Parts: sequence; structure tokens; C-alpha cells
Amino acid sequence: MILTTGGTGYIGSHTVVELQNAGFDVLIADDLSNSKQEVVDRIEQISGKRPFFEKVDLKNKEKTFELFQKYPNIEAVIHFAASKAVGESVENPLKYYENNIGSLVNVLQAMQEYDVASIVFSSSCTVYGQPEILPVTEQTKRKAAESPYGNTKMISEDILKDHSVSDKSFKIIALRYFNPIGAHPSGLIGELPNGIPNNLVPFVTQTAYGLRTTLSVFGNDYDTPDGSCIRDYINVVDLAEAHVVAIKRLLENKNKSNFEYFNIGTGQGVSVLEIVRTFEKVSNTKLNYQIVGRRAGDIEKIWAETSFANTELGWKAKKTLNETLLSAWNWEQKYRASLTE
Ligand code: WQD
Repeated sequence: MILTTGGTGYIGSHTVVELQNAGFDVLIADDLSNSKQEVVDRIEQISGKRPFFEKVDLKNKEKTFELFQKYPNIEAVIHFAASKAVGESVENPLKYYENNIGSLVNVLQAMQEYDVASIVFSSSCTVYGQPEILPVTEQTKRKAAESPYGNTKMISEDILKDHSVSDKSFKIIALRYFNPIGAHPSGLIGELPNGIPNNLVPFVTQTAYGLRTTLSVFGNDYDTPDGSCIRDYINVVDLAEAHVVAIKRLLENKNKSNFEYFNIGTGQGVSVLEIVRTFEKVSNTKLNYQIVGRRAGDIEKIWAETSFANTELGWKAKKTLNETLLSAWNWEQKYRASLTE
């Protein structure tokens, strides 16, 4: 059984589907602070199998240990549970350190107590900051984080590394996500931000649906071909599959060291305005957008060099930007329609 903490969230839910498709039993532990329990029903609908679910506050050490005691057949963990809004982390850093660091330490201590030796950790390209040289490889130096959120990812990686040095039986893979976007082709699960979306693609689809009047493009005066920021947008199902490959690597003892990390991206840099234009094309809609000032904390451009994940991990992103943006649009329309049923 694979414990997925934060498993009703955006990346987590897509990963639970792929884990179950790969034949794993899955236990979801989530506090539902940023997701809905009905996602469990959707996962069952998609994969034909219902994951186990426990509502758990992983900031509570006792409750975290009780979870492992209740499920003695946990063989590995994928740790998604974390707060992830960059702006909110600047306003309320203590919430981010308590949740993101506290929960990870509790999970690691419970794993040690109950002899669970494998963990895949949800990390982020944010640990690279604004790289001097592009594309980014796993050898690219990490940089001081631009936000408390980013800092919790840096600190979490350091905690995992230190723990892997102190306890050789622990096997850890950190996956450094670039920008996850899109939704499962069924349109039954997808990104569901609370309130006004921070991230670009949900804001695009909500604008196209008419929930937002205008998309603000944060700056077109960057040193990029069209002046807007460049990111490496990765399909969430491709990303989910990377977790299945990583957990198998650990369970089959194919890892080369007990602390590994991989860039999980497409290798393609895409600008904000290219996202807008591509979305308009695939959705056959006209997006209302305006160019506004830069957003504080944004880096100018980043995309991954993916050969290490491709060759060593044996994983490669497969889905195109067109089908990924269309999946996001399909999800937005289906989800909104389901609210009126
Ligand atoms: C992408 C680009 C914006 C919204 C952050 C975190 C990362 C991960 C994903 C959690 C930027 C522009 C955005 C909008 C815009 N977080 N934009 N108008 O900032 O690259 O990454 O979210 O998992 O760790 O750092 O993603 O989608 O917010 O922005 O112009 O309304 O879109 O300026 O250039 P980001 P994003």
C-alpha cells in the first residue's frame, strides 16, 4: 500500500489514479484544507478502484503516528501535503513553516517508527530561483528562495538529505516539478484553486468560462522573445506517471543512492503569451487579457534539461501543450456544469 499525503489535491489525485492503474493499493491522508473529499469518488470513477481515505492533520504528531499504526501495510510514502500559495506564504510564513516542515518531520518520524523506508517527495523548480544558465539540470546550483513557500521546499530537501545520511535504510527521491498544468482526460479531476487562482492556467480557463472578466498578463518587458515570462509547463498526468516510476524505483531498490532528485519538466520553455495564444487556438475562444505590471517575486525564465529523468529514471513527458491546455479547458467546463446539476 502506498500512502499519499495530500492525495485529494491537484497533483496527488492524478497520482493516485496512476498508482491504482499500475496495480498499487493506495491510502490517501489529507486534511481537506485545500481539497474536497468527493475527489475520492472521482478517483474511483476513473480507476474503478476506491482508495482508502483518512482525514488527518499531519501537523499533529500523535495523529500521524496513529495513521501508520492503523495501516501496517504501508510500504512507501508519496508526500504531497503542503501549502503552496507563494503570495500567501509571504503574508503568513509561520503557517507555511508549521505546515510544510512540521508535517514532513512528523511523517518521516512515523516512517522511522513503523519501518517504512521509501519516500517520494514533491519538490519544485523554485529551488533553482532564477538560473543564470538555461536549461536547468540537476547539477544547477540551488538558490536562496524568493518566498517562504520556496524556502520550505529547500529546507524540506535538506531535511530529507540529512535524514538519508543519518539513516542509510531510508530511500528518498525528490521530484522537482516545473509548472504542472492540465487535467485528467476524463474531466473528472483537475486543478481547483480556492478563490482567485494564483496560477496562470486556472485563471485562463476561468476567464474563458466567464468567471473572471480579464486575465492580467504580469509584464511583457522581460528579456524574452515576446517580453512575457517563460516557464516549463508539464502535463499533470505525465507528472503523475513520474511518481509511479519513482516509487517503483525505490521499491525495486533500483535507486543509485538513498537521496536522489530529478527535474520533472518537458524541456520546452513556453511564454505566458504563447499559453494565451495556444489556449485560444485549441479552445476556439477569444481570451480577454491585458498586459499589466510585473508580479513581485516572479522569475523571468526557467525550463528543464530533462535527460537525467529520461535516461536514469526512465520517464519522459509525452503530452503536447495543445492537448494539455485542452484538458484544462475540458475540466473547467465539466466542473462548472457539474455545479448546476
Ligand atoms: C506562471 C507565469 C506569471 C497568473 C508557482 C510556484 C511553483 C508552483 C507553481 C506550487 C508567471 C504569469 C500568472 C496570472 C500571469 N507552485 N501569470 N497572470 O509562479 O511559475 O510557479 O506556481 O506548486 O512552485 O512558484 O506559476 O502559474 O503562478 O505563473 O501573467 O494571472 O504566468 O507571472 O510568469 P509560477 P504561475
